[in-house]
Amino acid sequence: MSNTIGIIVGSLRNASFSKKLAHAIIGMAPRGFEFKIIPIDTLPLYNQDFDDEHRAPESYGIFRNAIKALDGIIFVTPEYNRSIPGVLKNALDVGSRPYGKNTWDGKPAAIFGNSPGNISAFGANHHLRQCLVFLNVPAMQQPEVYLPSIGNAFDESGNLKNEETQSFVQQAVEAYIDWFNRLR
Ligand code: FNR
Repeated sequence: MSNTIGIIVGSLRNASFSKKLAHAIIGMAPRGFEFKIIPIDTLPLYNQDFDDEHRAPESYGIFRNAIKALDGIIFVTPEYNRSIPGVLKNALDVGSRPYGKNTWDGKPAAIFGNSPGNISAFGANHHLRQCLVFLNVPAMQQPEVYLPSIGNAFDESGNLKNEETQSFVQQAVEAYIDWFNRLR
């Protein structure tokens, strides 16, 4: 039976490095696993009235059903102001409600943080972990994935240029799969 792992990308930018990294990760899916991006760009900013008054946007229902159908999740995120981008927080919030219907509940996750800078989205990674505790999402501890200088990491076809980086990302994906198999 195939396991479906959703990839949530914390950037809406067309030329996003996180999107490129997500595509590189999709190419590393092992046999028996499907990796697929779950889009977050159609989600209006969360307003609790939508749920309380039973008028949630259609995109919320589509997104929540997509998350519910997943076996696991890989977050690929940049850092904004030493935290996660608002679009990613919004997606977490939308998927967590209405109260008692947290669609993220129990799904094993991994976090792949990246940045054109040197601090490698450390702040975003750990702020995301804080949210995942409350959402009851177990997040892989090791290896921690902090990818610096991501602006130079890809060739024109979107492949990871540096063998060491490629090998590290591959090892992190394999570690996630091992850990996922132990939890499920
Ligand atoms: C950034 N950037 C950034 N980078 C970083 O390493 N730490 C940070 O705290 C921030 N803060 C920040 C805030 C805002 C509002 C923006 C727009 C950008 C730079 C960021 O890493 C860079 O723009 C990445 O290219 C964004 O990721 P994507 O879109 O390439 O995936």
